[in-house]
Amino acid sequence: MLPVSHWMAGVCSVSFLYLTAPIAGESVQHVDAASCKQCHEEIYQQWSGSMHANSSALKDPIHGAFYKNVVGDPTQEDVKAGNGKYPVCLKCHAPVAAMEGSTKLDAKPAYAQGIGCTTCHSFSAFKGTDTPDGKPLYGTDAYEMDKASLYGPSGISYTTERTPADAKWPTPVHHPVPMQGNKSELFKSNDACMGCHEKRSNPHGTPLCRTGDEYRTGKNFVSCQACHMSIVSVPKLKDGQVVAGEMISIPDHSMAGGHDDKMITRGIALSMDTKQEGDVIKATLLVRNRLPHAYPTGAPFRNFFIRVATYDKDGQMLWKNYEVHPIKDDPKAAFWYTLGDEAGNPTMPPKATQVLSDTRLKPNEVRTLEYEIPVKPGTSILRAEALYDLLLPPIKANMKGKLPDDLLTPKLVAAVEIRL
Ligand code: HEC
Ligand code: HEC
Ligand code: HEC
Ligand code: HEC
Ligand code: HEC
Repeated sequence: MLPVSHWMAGVCSVSFLYLTAPIAGESVQHVDAASCKQCHEEIYQQWSGSMHANSSALKDPIHGAFYKNVVGDPTQEDVKAGNGKYPVCLKCHAPVAAMEGSTKLDAKPAYAQGIGCTTCHSFSAFKGTDTPDGKPLYGTDAYEMDKASLYGPSGISYTTERTPADAKWPTPVHHPVPMQGNKSELFKSNDACMGCHEKRSNPHGTPLCRTGDEYRTGKNFVSCQACHMSIVSVPKLKDGQVVAGEMISIPDHSMAGGHDDKMITRGIALSMDTKQEGDVIKATLLVRNRLPHAYPTGAPFRNFFIRVATYDKDGQMLWKNYEVHPIKDDPKAAFWYTLGDEAGNPTMPPKATQVLSDTRLKPNEVRTLEYEIPVKPGTSILRAEALYDLLLPPIKANMKGKLPDDLLTPKLVAAVEIRL
């Protein structure tokens, strides 16, 4: 019997019996997700459709486009960022490449894969996202990364040895890859996410992403996992086929967010009160963020806007609160983050030296918008809609034709309507 601690000593060559990936001399981070699929097929399926499995510049078209602009070619070695240093992006978007100092993401499957099973499941401790002297620790730098063993949340002890058929408890449970189930606190807390999601600033120190800080100001104690990895019951899979009549309950590894049309509807609620005075409707619209982080959160170009419009009984639009986009024509109906340069002009994330404004909804905020709407002849419906966009209008204009249309189309996330 090989005790688990044997693996902690860093010996990692003999026991990957079940694995299809070549292992000799490679760290556990190189064990391919495909070899986990054999036994964790349902989790594998969720993960493979997630942005974690598609986070590298080779897989995510939006990140890929920005990476090429700001850093360079993701298939070349020794690429440096604008500041002459190793590109910080890779510490979160291609963490295994970052651990090994490579920028050639097609060199190894684990680099291209992005955030694999063995990336998160080799965290053995969270160090926080700042050094004692205040320097940022991003992604894999924020964690102790075990190169020989995996970890999970259950508290169960595993062995890579075969468990004899007649063994009785306390014989450790067999796992084909070194696995310790003793990191319950880490995997069930926000620490499992914060290394990459807490905060990020550009090289000028201007904050770009602040999901973790937002969450803290929200003074809420619901973990990230409670919403983003809630327990779901899914049909059991065997070799890609549904096993009839069998379900399995697992923490949802699709970790949905801004790319998921359903998830984005979970964060927001609209309600509206109206009063007609002559040929004007006075409408009070309440926009409520149901989340303990901003809505939208994350990347600085995420945004949403409100369309308020009247229609006749055939659905013909008679009046709308903006011409081109609320950012221009009705700023109170635009919820976005504006970054600026020294002179105070709006600019892109890498160049920004200041935050010009932040009108996204704060954690659990309720925002009130007032409208005076002209009642044109035939007006019979008043409808307000919230529309979510992954990217801001100027970026969308730049990306037209370069990105799939779906990524450039605003998504309806909430609506309220009144029949007059
Ligand atoms: C982004 C980080 C992350 C990635 C990537 C990830 N996991 Fe997890 N996994 C977690 C966390 C966190 C938990 C604990 C969730 C909880 O208990 O609330 C977990 C739990 C699990 C569990 C325990 C399930 C249970 O019933 O309690 C298994 C098994 C697992 N993951 C397998 C995988 C496999 C296989 C992959 C790749 C296909 C994978 N994970 C990818 C973070 C991750
Ligand atoms: C030969 C089958 C097999 C393979 C291959 C396999 N596992 Fe497991 N794994 C299991 C079994 C069985 C359990 C215990 C029951 C459960 O939690 O699903 C388990 C449990 C886990 C857990 C939960 C740990 C805890 O806290 O108890 C994680 C995380 C996990 N596996 C990750 C992985 C990853 C990542 C891979 C690929 C590198 C992998 N497994 C490959 C069979 C396998
Ligand atoms: C090793 C870094 C890392 C860790 C750890 C990590 N993430 Fe992520 N996560 C990312 C990156 C990078 C992306 C963006 C991928 C992209 O869009 O290119 C992402 C994307 C997401 C998204 C957005 C998905 C979408 O639809 O746009 C959600 C939600 C998310 N992660 C939740 C979590 C949660 C919850 C945890 C903790 C259990 C976690 N992540 C742990 C790096 C990480
Ligand atoms: C009460 C449920 C809930 C909790 C708790 C929660 N989230 Fe979210 N999160 C959501 C919903 C719903 C969305 C989609 C709307 C949005 O993008 O704001 C979302 C969106 C996200 C996104 C997507 C951003 C993007 O650009 O695509 C990330 C990343 C994220 N959350 C991370 C986290 C992290 C990290 C935590 C823990 C600190 C957390 N969330 C806690 C519900 C929750
Ligand atoms: C601290 C970790 C971290 C670092 C460093 C990082 N990112 Fe990200 N990035 C994320 C996370 C997490 C998300 C997705 C969730 C969100 O919006 O917060 C994301 C999302 C993105 C997106 C949106 C992707 C999409 O599909 O919509 C782009 C573009 C992006 N990052 C570019 C970059 C570039 C370029 C760099 C380097 C200059 C970089 N990131 C550095 C964590 C990071």
